[in-house]
Amino acid sequence: MSHVTVITIDGPVGVGKSTVARLVAAELGYFHIDTGAMYRSVTLAAMERRVNVADEAALTKLAQSLKIELKYTDGQLRVYCDGRDVTIAIRQPDVSKNTSPVADVIGVRQCMVEQQRQLGLAQPSVCEGRDIGTVVFPDARWKFYLDASLEERTKRHAQQLRELGNQVELEELKQAIRARDQHDRNRPYGPLRVARDAVIIDTTGIGQDEMTRIIRAFVGDASRRDSS
Ligand code: DC
Repeated sequence: MSHVTVITIDGPVGVGKSTVARLVAAELGYFHIDTGAMYRSVTLAAMERRVNVADEAALTKLAQSLKIELKYTDGQLRVYCDGRDVTIAIRQPDVSKNTSPVADVIGVRQCMVEQQRQLGLAQPSVCEGRDIGTVVFPDARWKFYLDASLEERTKRHAQQLRELGNQVELEELKQAIRARDQHDRNRPYGPLRVARDAVIIDTTGIGQDEMTRIIRAFVGDASRRDSS
């Protein structure tokens, strides 16, 4: 995998990875792989088909059967699962809650990791998630780990949820984020970890444009460097 041109961005809930990954990808003309959206799509399908989230074999079979597609229209990501647009549905709070246990299942992870690698091998990409610099693309040239205080991440996540039309109770959301973080850090396969060679950026108090500028400063003109 040493020839993969990929920028990895990992970090916990609400740190702003998706927006920054989208902005960096747009500036460089790279593809943006939102891996959280892929795990969310499997979870939504499991919920709709009433697959027990404790049934690992059934979840693995389901993940293997789904066609998950990430498409960009006017710079906005739209997620399709078996041809249906699930962009909004996968961001609902009950899907968020159930995605952590679904993402624990090794068969589900193996299936997603394989698809993420295929996407990254097909085109220069910015790939964001939890295990991207450690497991999915351990040979990536540029790895970033974004972090921020729990308070700040709660505020950012609340803003995203409100934009989707959800009512938000800040203290409840903070506890839910804390629980998801803990779960994501402690899963046996593909836990949230800082890759040894990642650049860590504390984004507390930093806006998305500034985060994007910092990453761009590290990466430089990645596309030009690749073609030389
Ligand atoms: O980034 P997000 O909030 O959309 O991720 C949704 C869930 O999926 C989150 O609980 C962690 C999990 N996830 C994962 O286990 N591995 C990834 N590469 C991306 C997300």
